Amino acid sequence: LSEETSSLLSAYDWLTKYYYHLLKYSEEGKIGLDYFTKRGIKEETIDQFQLGFAPTNSEFTMEFLKKKGFHQQLLVKAGLFAARSNDEYVDVFRGRVTFPIKNHLGRTVAFGGRAFQGEEPKYLNSPEHELFQKGNLLFNFNLAKNHIRKENEVIIFEGYMDVLAAYQAGIKNTVATLGTALSSNQAKLLKRYIDTVILCYDADNAGINASYQAANLLQQIGCEVRIAHVQENMDPDDYIKTFGSEQFKQQVISVSDTFFKFYMKYKKRDYNLSVDSERIAYIETIVQQLASIESTIEREYYVKEIADEFNLSTDIIHHDIEKYKKRNN
Ligand code: UTP
Ligand code: MN
Ligand code: MN
Ligand code: MN
Ligand code: MN
Repeated sequence: LSEETSSLLSAYDWLTKYYYHLLKYSEEGKIGLDYFTKRGIKEETIDQFQLGFAPTNSEFTMEFLKKKGFHQQLLVKAGLFAARSNDEYVDVFRGRVTFPIKNHLGRTVAFGGRAFQGEEPKYLNSPEHELFQKGNLLFNFNLAKNHIRKENEVIIFEGYMDVLAAYQAGIKNTVATLGTALSSNQAKLLKRYIDTVILCYDADNAGINASYQAANLLQQIGCEVRIAHVQENMDPDDYIKTFGSEQFKQQVISVSDTFFKFYMKYKKRDYNLSVDSERIAYIETIVQQLASIESTIEREYYVKEIADEFNLSTDIIHHDIEKYKKRNN
């Protein structure tokens, strides 16, 4: 590590402790602590994740870091401070609760900050820098990796709060992307650890579309993908808090869809199935996708399902599958 790089890591370390300390023990931080408490976050979770609070007045934070010997220039370069005017710099996360984003070794390399009094944007992340590329990191991977190995399965969420809720419910093989779509580097990282990836995104349009993109990507690199659904208008955090961890495991995770099942549901939204031509186009799309399933058993299973649903003979479907397979080769 260059001297600047280790200095940057050290600044992030100090700031992690500083925000955490303020959340737990300061008068000003009480409002942040109340916020987490109201959302059901326990003290043990605050400690484990080193959640924090960034004071509204940036000068405190700057003073603290200067006393530790960090130069303003470095702090700006590390994305901790931002220029507001010529010679005024502000703490990027001021007035927010903070989530340290750690690399795989457990070192903080960025923060996520959530506004809790309605300010926009709701979440802010540190800008990317030398040690922080959003597409190369997953939130909580450092704590989750042993659990991921042990269970041979990982659950991917959209949000930090989903990870925290699952953690508190005893589900520890979970990670979250950092407000962006799952990248191919993130997918490859997970593939090195396990075969099965469960996507558990928010039950809204954005979440469904993001599931589709991520599922395709994972499928392409050879992961077995399953897609879990929580009740409409909920996210996993809401679900776990409302229904508890057992119900989440049994009625969301255990019954998650295979990629193909999800694909059938997903594509249905694009067609008006009460119109013959669209119904036919839908079936053709689905059968084309069916041709790319490698497992004969799985393929046969869905051939029957489609034949039943649309009152077709399985022979016809097999015939078309062969046609598409030839075309794919
Ligand atoms: P969500 O809007 O689903 O947030 O965004 P959430 O995790 O459920 O948040 P709560 O429960 O309201 O606190 C999912 C993720 O997208 C990123 C964050 O990483 C968030 O966890 N995001 C969201 C942003 O980067 N910026 C935003 O303004 C909103
Ligand atoms: Mn969302
Ligand atoms: Mn959400
Ligand atoms: Mn939301
Ligand atoms: Mn949420």
